Amino acid sequence: MSIIPKKILITGGAGFIGSHVVRLFVNKYPNYHIFNLDALTYAGNLENLVDIESKENYTFLKGDITDETYITEIFNKYNFTDVIHLAAESHVDRSIKDPLAFVRTNVIGTMVLLNAFKGLWSGNYKDKLFYHISTDEVYGTLGETGLFTESTSYDPNSPYSASKASSDHFVRAYGETYSLPYVITNCSNNYGQNQFPEKLIPLFINNIINKKPLPVYGDGNYTRDWLYVKDHARAIDMVFHEGKIGETYNIGGFNEWRNIDLVKLLCDQMDLKLERPQGSSQELITFVKDRPGHDLRYAIDANKIKDELGWMPSVTFEEGLKETIDWYFDNSEWLNNVTSGAYQTYYEKQYS
Ligand code: NAD
Ligand code: DAU
Repeated sequence: MSIIPKKILITGGAGFIGSHVVRLFVNKYPNYHIFNLDALTYAGNLENLVDIESKENYTFLKGDITDETYITEIFNKYNFTDVIHLAAESHVDRSIKDPLAFVRTNVIGTMVLLNAFKGLWSGNYKDKLFYHISTDEVYGTLGETGLFTESTSYDPNSPYSASKASSDHFVRAYGETYSLPYVITNCSNNYGQNQFPEKLIPLFINNIINKKPLPVYGDGNYTRDWLYVKDHARAIDMVFHEGKIGETYNIGGFNEWRNIDLVKLLCDQMDLKLERPQGSSQELITFVKDRPGHDLRYAIDANKIKDELGWMPSVTFEEGLKETIDWYFDNSEWLNNVTSGAYQTYYEKQYS
């Protein structure tokens, strides 16, 4: 347990990855106070945190990171010693339909936080940290071979990845220009409990349960590197405590899957769980119009965090996927709540 008391602002803590990070920090570090700032957009859900919401070292703040007045006010009121910044618009398909929303939250929102942190500490940065959570998508796409390393050039292809790349650049620029202490991590595709069913794995779990078509974009030969969300949260804990100021760390699962192979594995695991004949969920697979600007392949070289901090994924993909499926079955009320209302409208627009 760390002994230095801290007041940590975690942004986006009601979302998928953020909720796992908040839970880990609240439970593991009782001498830290964790402030979870979240605007509760469609992706934010306080049901993700019911088990820790009444802990003494936890406070929820409802607010928007683009609201400069509010952000300045809470920094001055609570004197956050550190920021772990996850709040973002995070879905590539939505960024294609409404890019400006991504610039507002991901770029302007990050700038507002950087300015508030800089304004509060005015150069007195001892034992302070601004930790920016980013994505491997900033590197663009790989061909059939090769891996993204920390020195791969940025080459984003979607409005989402361009907005995340921009925010990374601003964090680094504040480090260079104002000596603001930062670390950045660029992670691959996460999966696990509490992921909103607009992303591939939970969307397909929900569709299989409801015997709806599984919309595979293009020919399904796109490749992603999958990491269990709890392993990402563990990596964030390690980088927060042991990462070097001004460094970037790539985080990945050493776990590449072609979409079509992943979908078939998921179908087979779902058939077992649902006690349906093997092969029946695969019949739901439907190839649909491709995503514009679809990146062919992402794959992370995570050896820097492995060698320097000793981090490694702790579960295999098959184990993580099983845990994930079990969670969605045990939490059908959560799934029903988030897929009613506005979700239906989104689904019609995206897949009609
Ligand atoms: P998510 O969409 O599940 O959650 C985002 C959270 O941010 C939500 O709780 C939402 O309410 C909140 N939020 C959005 N706009 C806000 C605003 N203006 N002010 C305050 N809060 C706001 O996202 P996620 O998948 O958990 O991703 C979290 C972070 O990790 C993002 O920065 C994302 O870019 C990054 N990331 C995600 C993945 C992944 O596979 N999901 C991989 C690598 C990096
Ligand atoms: O690589 C990290 C990124 O991973 C994160 O930064 C993003 O926040 C996160 O959303 C994720 O982006 P992807 O676009 O890779 O994830 P998504 O789940 O949307 O899609 C995964 C792959 O599956 C991708 O090749 C597109 C494909 N896909 C997705 C959906 C939603 C389909 O074929 N059909 C679908 O309906």
